Amino acid sequence: MTSSRVTIPTMTTLQTTSIHDAYRERSVLITGGLGFIGSNLARRLVEVGDVEVYLLDALVPDQGGNLFNIEDIKDQVTLHIADMGDPSVINHLVGGMDYVFNLAANVSHLDSMLFPQHDLKLNCQSQLTLLEACRNFNPHVKIVYTSTRQVYGKPLYLPLDEQHRCAPVDINGVHKLAAEHYHLLYHRVYGVRSTCLRLTNTYGPRHLMRHNRQSVIAWFIRQAMDGGMIDLFGEGRQKRDFNYVDDVVEALLMIGASEKAEGDVFNLGSHEPVSLSHLAEELIWLTGHGTVRYVPFPPERQLIDIGNCYSSYRKIETLVGWEPRTTLRAGLASTIEFYNNHRAHYWDSKIESTPRILTTA
Ligand SMILES: NC(=O)c1ccc[n+]([C@@H]2O[C@H](COP(=O)([O-])OP(=O)(O)OC[C@H]3O[C@@H](n4cnc5c(N)ncnc54)[C@H](O)[C@@H]3O)[C@@H](O)[C@H]2O)c1
Repeated sequence: MTSSRVTIPTMTTLQTTSIHDAYRERSVLITGGLGFIGSNLARRLVEVGDVEVYLLDALVPDQGGNLFNIEDIKDQVTLHIADMGDPSVINHLVGGMDYVFNLAANVSHLDSMLFPQHDLKLNCQSQLTLLEACRNFNPHVKIVYTSTRQVYGKPLYLPLDEQHRCAPVDINGVHKLAAEHYHLLYHRVYGVRSTCLRLTNTYGPRHLMRHNRQSVIAWFIRQAMDGGMIDLFGEGRQKRDFNYVDDVVEALLMIGASEKAEGDVFNLGSHEPVSLSHLAEELIWLTGHGTVRYVPFPPERQLIDIGNCYSSYRKIETLVGWEPRTTLRAGLASTIEFYNNHRAHYWDSKIESTPRILTTA
């Protein structure tokens, strides 16, 4: 069966109004703004209208930065291609901002084990450079930092809540946890208004699809669309939660608008965790292609595997009313439709046309 058009639910009027009120006529910097989640956030802010949207991205090789992600909004945002770890860039940039959505990071857990120093540079050093810039040039700016539920490590109980102990099982998790603490420390000591969101597996349009080291779900989508093999390690029984990117963008904007969220940490999560084998079956059904293959765990992945893992989003729901609105089937269908239309920009590593670039580094 091929995918049919599925309608993604829209926000309530209340959500739309409060987001408009919070962001209209404000200046917003998105670090990692050419990446998967950053570019979807940028589009949403452009849609709000009357928001000055600034994007900072170094187009780090092997990560999700892609100029095509902002192709149709490139005249409505200001793009800086530069490294967040360069003080001469970031000191200048944070000055006039009302909000910073800090998404720039190394995302691959596997790569962090292969290149730990690189992960340290992107996930710790660069984060400190941003925070120092805020402390010195814009001490009361609002920062939303995207952390990961990987900071919990192997679950002691499920679903994971924010009280669960943090014991990351890979370098990336250790560094993301350190960066969370940097953000919280700069809040406590210097008054920077930071909030950390622990994201779970996010999927949707504009994701990195070129290799399989960043996201399981993105790779499964690609394999299904290509009629390839979807490898399930073990029996594919590991349960995970998946959030459609529009829901994650909404959470970022809602938590960014909340004063009560400052200095605190919040999970995202989904209504129903699903097994990886169920995810594969769903994709095969939606695309009409792909085959499941059961394979033993590769040793390098087994070492950092966390088994069943999914989070409770009760805390953010209680504070700002966020909940995921997109069902897995609807989200997957719209994702497949997007890549059917734009596959050429995501299946290879070609650099796309050049938008307005102010700085280079
Ligand atoms: N995608 C997920 O499932 C997921 C899950 C948990 C957490 N997160 C977090 O969400 C954030 C965004 O993830 P994503 O999936 O959009 O990743 P992505 O790879 O698509 O985007 C990250 C972007 O950051 C840029 N970048 C990295 N270091 C930089 C630096 N020093 N200076 C400037 N730009 C830099 C990269 O070039 C890339 O474009 C990350 O912090 C990630 O840890 C994502």
